[in-house]
Amino acid sequence: MKQQSKARAHTNIALIKYWGKRDNKLFLPMNSSLSLTLDAFYSETSVELSDSFEADSFILNDQPQNSQETAKISHFLDLFRQTAGIKTAAKVVSQNFVPTAAGLASSASAFAALGAAMNHATGLNLDLAELSTYVRRGSGSATRSVYGGFVEWQMGTTSADSLAVEIDDASWDIGMITVAVNTNKKTLSSRDGMKLTVETSAFYPAWLESAAKDLVSIKEAIHKQDFQQLGEITESNGMKMHGTMLGATPPFSYWEALTVEVLTKIREIRRQGWQCYFTMDAGPNVKILCRYSDAEAIQKLLTTAFPDNPVIISKVGSGVKLI
Ligand code: ADP
Ligand code: DP6
Ligand code: CO
Repeated sequence: MKQQSKARAHTNIALIKYWGKRDNKLFLPMNSSLSLTLDAFYSETSVELSDSFEADSFILNDQPQNSQETAKISHFLDLFRQTAGIKTAAKVVSQNFVPTAAGLASSASAFAALGAAMNHATGLNLDLAELSTYVRRGSGSATRSVYGGFVEWQMGTTSADSLAVEIDDASWDIGMITVAVNTNKKTLSSRDGMKLTVETSAFYPAWLESAAKDLVSIKEAIHKQDFQQLGEITESNGMKMHGTMLGATPPFSYWEALTVEVLTKIREIRRQGWQCYFTMDAGPNVKILCRYSDAEAIQKLLTTAFPDNPVIISKVGSGVKLI
């Protein structure tokens, strides 16, 4: 057989965070999460299946990847190959239009794009909900990148029902700004960071209790289109997730000195009357939920304060697509 497919998927930033697995092999999360898909950051990935290939190969950003990175991809592609009943090797070529492994959710767009391309190349053609259960097993956050707008990843009870659900298309003046504090590769992956947190953090039970409540409240806020409530829950949930890391043994944090300065500045901008709320993932970079119509004005204030740091505006992104 010989078949080639290519897909684009956008990153998503969680407003209610996923931070821990109850099953490390099946990527079943400890709690349900909810995100906003971003237009500005994405991955494009092509998959070529051919009987003439001896083994899988993987090129990322024009660099052939080592055996460890390639094995990760092979393992993921096996999920599709098993269902399709094939053993054909694949050539995977991917380009990230987002910094890789810097806490800007490259693993989300990466596995959503790879999964969608493989879904088509194998002829499986799973629907988006089922596809989300497959891409989940490449990276948990990828589950939510299958759809655009506000997306919930329902924790589910089994591998088959731990999937993404479209909540709202977010077409009510929603935007997100990213302040790039440091886009180098992190030293502790999300995967290892969350595992250490689940296993050792004194604050983990409180986090789970609180995240469940936050999810209910944020869905109410989205339903009412109450931007202030949406922002306040987003900011508080993100900070609680970072709090769990300080409660781990050994304690750790993804924050840098400049991160704190950016958060302080955002609070100041908010006091000036702009509606803007921050969140952060497993990295030092800061994301700001705001009205899309306010984004340029807020960007200007941030650029004045941090002239050396890129400040990037994004509108709401769409779901995964074949290209
Ligand atoms: P991030 O904050 O960027 O999501 P993670 O630690 O969750 O960081 O994941 C980064 C890892 O995801 C990379 O080290 C790599 O293994 C994988 N990854 C990133 N981009 C791609 C891609 N385009 N295709 C396949 N795998 C990717
Ligand atoms: C802080 O999805 O990158 O961004 O499932 O192990 O691949 P793995 O981890 P990943 O974790 C994302 C963590 C987060 C919060 C979130 O996106 O919900
Ligand atoms: Co990730």
